[in-house]
Amino acid sequence: MTLTVALPKGRLGKTSWEYLFDPMPYPFDDRKLTFENDAYKVLWVKPSDVLTYVEAGIADCGITGLDTLNELNPQVYRIKALPYGMCQLVVAGPKKVSESAGATLKVATKYPNLARKYFKENGQKIQLIPLQGSVELAPIVGLSDVIVDIVETGSTLKANDLEVKKTIMTSHAMMVANPAKHRLKFNEIQTLLENIRKEP
Ligand code: PRP
Repeated sequence: MTLTVALPKGRLGKTSWEYLFDPMPYPFDDRKLTFENDAYKVLWVKPSDVLTYVEAGIADCGITGLDTLNELNPQVYRIKALPYGMCQLVVAGPKKVSESAGATLKVATKYPNLARKYFKENGQKIQLIPLQGSVELAPIVGLSDVIVDIVETGSTLKANDLEVKKTIMTSHAMMVANPAKHRLKFNEIQTLLENIRKEP
């Protein structure tokens, strides 16, 4: 049976292809959204949409970040942690911000659920400001006091004069599967897992 795999566009995507399908050459360009051969159909989608396709069973399995997985908490099996896509989910802000307890902190983020949970556990009242991207802009222009966002190399924070205040979690790539498809295509998924490159 053909195995349908959803892969994330963006920085996880090309590495995912290399871990799963090397030495097959990377087949996607800017516009092409699917790849198919005898064994696999690959869908090329936004990282958070990987979970939508897998949850719906359109993709049998897929790869996304642990950060996105924990944020959206979908009904999928977490079948394997993968050794790439390492990054930190952090609270960051300008060097002069004081996180005085009791005050309501304005928090801009693409991760509203994880941010809410983190500050609740730490007894900090917040006002959430959901954004879709370029979150680092928010504290610079006064939309928020801090951000909750991903840091990989740190260059975006540095370029915008922001610093890490707290680390919430470490993230990495995760392989997930639709529960029903995991039963139906167990052997195909095992074959894919066995073929995953072991070294970075
Ligand atoms: C992510 C993240 C940070 C940046 C961090 O954004 O939200 O902005 O990467 O990476 P760095 O530490 O290596 O600089 P992404 O590039 O996915 O784009 P976005 O801001 O539009 O969400």
